[in-house]
Amino acid sequence: MRTLDLAGINVPVIGQGTWRMGEDPSRRSQEVAALRQGIELGMTLIDTAEMYGEGGAEQVVGEAIAGRRDQVFLVSKVYPHNASRDGIPQACERSLQRLGTDYIDVYLLHWRGQYPLEETVAAFERLREAGKIGRWGVSNFDLDDLHELSAPACATNQVLYNLEERGIEFDLLPWCQQHRLPVMAYCPIGQGGEMLAHPALMHVAARHDATPAQVALAWILRQDGVIAIPKAVSPEHVQLNAQAARLQLEAGDLEALDHAFHAPQRKQRLAMV
Ligand SMILES: NC(=O)c1ccc[n+]([C@@H]2O[C@H](COP(=O)([O-])OP(=O)(O)OC[C@H]3O[C@@H](n4cnc5c(N)ncnc54)[C@H](OP(=O)(O)O)[C@@H]3O)[C@@H](O)[C@H]2O)c1
Repeated sequence: MRTLDLAGINVPVIGQGTWRMGEDPSRRSQEVAALRQGIELGMTLIDTAEMYGEGGAEQVVGEAIAGRRDQVFLVSKVYPHNASRDGIPQACERSLQRLGTDYIDVYLLHWRGQYPLEETVAAFERLREAGKIGRWGVSNFDLDDLHELSAPACATNQVLYNLEERGIEFDLLPWCQQHRLPVMAYCPIGQGGEMLAHPALMHVAARHDATPAQVALAWILRQDGVIAIPKAVSPEHVQLNAQAARLQLEAGDLEALDHAFHAPQRKQRLAMV
């Protein structure tokens, strides 16, 4: 598995998402098994949030990483309505409890809310000093938000990025690359939806004896400083996603994909799901 430097630590360029996990107790054991399988295959960065399953996803992650915390790079997120001076330490404590650990590697503000950024950042810094988090970062921040944040201590920006949603390529991604701010691409395979049935994607996949989802991941990883965090519960999907890190797209593939999924020609507002 290829790695990149995030917050001074080498992390895999493909991690594991957890949205929609922890919502249904009958699926819990499969979700835990999928995350463990992914860790064994090198996808040791796990992305979660207090929002997912209202804490349920963090509990699934906690079960999956029990006994192997030191092998995992944990990312979790605080709700904007908890991102205040007093709210953040309490939310973090609840997340730590559910995750069954005493620190989160990178703690993100899930999206901008009502609290001033300085207040949120000061609270993150206090958590860092207390050893509860390794670093902090943001999610769903467009370029103007990053300018306003103006914080070299920010470790990452997690945003929507896939073949169908290329808006960040116009300005946000180049800026992050220039400032060595790793970007985490969420919904990298378009939530397993229609994108995967696009004829151009299927054609490129067939050429490489790969699947459309693997090409979608390899396409994201053509960019420097980008980590993809697909979510998969099916063991087959987990395996295929881990293998996608080895897939090298060629100029002809990229051209065909550009033709089918257009790069932005002007500034687009940051898309979110
Ligand atoms: N910061 C934010 O605001 C934000 C927003 C959205 C998501 N996220 C994070 O990003 C992660 C990824 O996004 P996402 O879960 O929305 O979407 P995604 O990873 O693009 O897609 C997940 C869907 O694709 C399927 N899938 C996985 N691997 C596949 C493969 N190799 N072939 C075919 N289908 C495959 C999964 O099925 P199975 O599960 O059945 O295997 C699932 O239905 C989330 O889980 C979450 O951690 C963050």
